[in-house]
Amino acid sequence: MAETTQPVTMETIVSLCRRRGFVFPSSEIYGGLGSTYDYGHYGVLTKNNIRSLWFRTMVQERDDIVALDSAIILNPRVWEASGHVAGFTDPLVDCRTCKLRFRADQLDQASCGRKPSKRPGETPDCDLTEARQFNLMFETHVGALQEESSAAYLRPETAQGIFINFKNVAQLARRKPPFGIAQFGKAFRNEITPGNFLFRVREFELMEVEFFVPPPDAPKWHEYWIEQRLGWHRGLGLRDENLRVREHDENERSHYSSATSDIEYLYPIGWGELEGVANRGEYDLTQHTQHSGTKLEWIDPDGNRYTPYVIEPAVSIERIFVALLCDAYHEEVVGDRERVVLRLHPKVAPVKAAILPLIPRDEGMATRARSLYEELRRHHVVEHDEGGQIGRRYRRQDEIGTPWAFTVDEQTLEDETVTVRDRDTLAQERLPISGVRAWLDDALERDWSSPQSD
Ligand code: GAP
Repeated sequence: MAETTQPVTMETIVSLCRRRGFVFPSSEIYGGLGSTYDYGHYGVLTKNNIRSLWFRTMVQERDDIVALDSAIILNPRVWEASGHVAGFTDPLVDCRTCKLRFRADQLDQASCGRKPSKRPGETPDCDLTEARQFNLMFETHVGALQEESSAAYLRPETAQGIFINFKNVAQLARRKPPFGIAQFGKAFRNEITPGNFLFRVREFELMEVEFFVPPPDAPKWHEYWIEQRLGWHRGLGLRDENLRVREHDENERSHYSSATSDIEYLYPIGWGELEGVANRGEYDLTQHTQHSGTKLEWIDPDGNRYTPYVIEPAVSIERIFVALLCDAYHEEVVGDRERVVLRLHPKVAPVKAAILPLIPRDEGMATRARSLYEELRRHHVVEHDEGGQIGRRYRRQDEIGTPWAFTVDEQTLEDETVTVRDRDTLAQERLPISGVRAWLDDALERDWSSPQSD
């Protein structure tokens, strides 16, 4: 195999996603809507895998975290108490000449609307307004009347739904600090400069844990969660050289944070935040106690009261999705043919195996392939593909990251065996058709690390 891979670009990933039906621009037939995307079949399957792996690690395999699914639209007072109405803002400048909007604190990364080789403000034609604070929350109205009293917000984070339920969960889940509440779901932010594909979008799916701890233990738990989450991303197959931890400067932290570290990934656009792990201290529970009048505190068996501190690992599926695709993308020449292969962790790959009759019009092969497919699909997402030459079918599967292909051929008709082809090594071996299900179950449980680390 000859390597042909150049460093992957975001355009390459966008084009693969489009070509293979992972992700498309949203509302395309109406000209799109800036930086919103729709997920096709393979995109949905991949997102489902990311979400369920997260849930498995953060909830199912732990004793100290329980799940929650709170509403997207909350009482607007929640966002006053949380500080989002006053403080969830970015500084915005408009250019009166090119009519584009920029983040005032990121002008050095933006391009002038008329002369993209220059930064906004660098040409004599640029006419920038003074910076003003722009709130990133989307406003909506609850009820039939569009009057101020019915104004509400689409949640910009799932975390607040957790804090306002602290008392309910602490009482009902029979947990004591340290314990956590996990929630995933859509979040919405009216980003001034969305872009770089799914990296910064206005609608995304957050996965967050609020982990409540006795205050003196907060620094220890902060370190613990940074390590845990870094290990989780590594376990998904992201290569070590593309991951790092960066601590926020004091002036970079969110209004609620007393310490934050980002787990960063080396995206094609440079190092960028993959997941944030923040020490939110007692900020949120205290704010909601003051604004709601309901005491959100912990009372231990001796009657001592305290407000737990909160450690929060928070990540979007979108940031993971892009990182995984960039990390997995590979081009190489096999024989005299080029192939694109997505070396995704088998647990993340949208399709776990393809079942391919070598000669689809051969009834014996077609029947066996179909029945193997029907057996496997009851347990895993698998595909039956009989369209086109076998080489093309393999390449189609390589491009969507299918780790294994089972091929039913002439020999199957003689001895009831099939070949299994490995996506990464291209090695082939024969297996009894009756053992394929157990083989696949077992293969999916094996340790895996990216062959691209070598
Ligand atoms: N509750 C804490 C919180 O929301 P954040 O750093 O603003 O913190 C958490 O966001 C995570 O959400 C980030 O680490 C990133 O993974 C993801 N994220 C934030 N803004 C995003 C956007 N516009 N598009 C996609 N993902 C985003």
